[in-house]
Amino acid sequence: MKARLLTLILSSTSLLVSAQAWAQRNEPVQVIPPVQVDNPAMVELGKKLFFEPRLSRSGFISCNSCHNLSMGGTDNIKTSIGDRWQEGPINSPTVLNSSLNVAQFWDGRAADLREQAGGPIANPKEMAFTHELALEFLSSVPEYKAEFKQVFGTPSIGIDQVTEAIAAFEETLVTPDARFDLWLKGDDKAITDQELAGYQLFKTSGCVACHNGPNLGGSSFQKMGLIEPYVTDNPAEGRVAVTGKDADRFNFKVPTLRNVELTYPYFHDGAVDTLGEAVDIMGRLQLGKKFSAEENAQIVAFLKTLTGKQPEIVLPILPASRDDTPRPVPFGS
Ligand code: HEC
Ligand code: HEC
Repeated sequence: MKARLLTLILSSTSLLVSAQAWAQRNEPVQVIPPVQVDNPAMVELGKKLFFEPRLSRSGFISCNSCHNLSMGGTDNIKTSIGDRWQEGPINSPTVLNSSLNVAQFWDGRAADLREQAGGPIANPKEMAFTHELALEFLSSVPEYKAEFKQVFGTPSIGIDQVTEAIAAFEETLVTPDARFDLWLKGDDKAITDQELAGYQLFKTSGCVACHNGPNLGGSSFQKMGLIEPYVTDNPAEGRVAVTGKDADRFNFKVPTLRNVELTYPYFHDGAVDTLGEAVDIMGRLQLGKKFSAEENAQIVAFLKTLTGKQPEIVLPILPASRDDTPRPVPFGS
């Protein structure tokens, strides 16, 4: 162990390698760094906004409706249900550990969580509100006005503050201490032989080429259907929508595999219900490899070791609407 640490130190070109990295096995997957909260008041406000259904036209849909923190940060349905029961265009990705992704959305059209958070409120197919109406609502509630003033020090509420607070809350939604992380930190007993065999296969078959780093994904855009095409009736075309480059057609952000046992159904179209089937498809379409039933079960067992400690959320109590607060429009046009 000492010798390995020494080699790591000597071979390291960067002096900034953190002490924590040295304590990990040298693997293409790294442990989830623990969360550091520097501004608890902002996080608390962001949590309220994440659970706030009055940021939607119907007064019924919050971020948590589609990114349910009781269910791995997703809605567990094929594609989301938006304002007036509209069918969503794409599967809702988890918000857990999403701060570790290079960009947000399947096609990466938002650079970070702040940029992302403004989208759903004003999206007619999601929360169907406008940013003005959201601010009008928040400003009509004295408790919100006071809380924004306390956190940001300004008398009026702006959309940038709303998205900053939501992003600050989302940054706390990490899931450390998965059994696999304990193994990465050196605890040989944290995973079973079958799970370890699954990880070896995950590495040797080439899954780690795309699913690597602390999030086992989220670090690049890759073609879905590299060896064999993926057949779907979902019209999403992925990264090309952002870059306009033909080479990016059907490239999607590689999803994280953290908590993947909780975030079914799988793929951008939500077409696949089980991990076994998702692994089979990945093997064939991305790597040209057909896994035996035993191999498939090993990889699935490994993937289930990636479920981490879920954020412990105390449900926020939201301040009541006032006489002049704009009222929800749940039905009709
Ligand atoms: C009606 C369902 C719905 C609501 C409400 C909703 N989202 Fe989403 N969210 C989605 C879907 C679907 C996507 C994927 C869209 C895409 O990639 O094109 C998504 C993507 C995201 C992502 C990107 C994750 C990643 O890895 O790319 C984040 C972060 C996120 N939403 C946060 C929020 C926040 C914060 C709110 C509240 C302000 C919110 N969402 C409201 C359905 C919803
Ligand atoms: C060439 C890059 C690449 C390789 C290799 C690869 N994947 Fe993926 N993986 C992706 C992309 C891109 C997606 C999202 C595709 C989509 O939704 O259309 C994905 C999606 C998944 C999903 C679904 C996650 C979710 O939340 O929807 C699982 C599970 C998965 N991969 C496991 C694996 C396994 C196991 C292997 C090895 C057998 C593997 N992948 C190999 C790029 C890759």
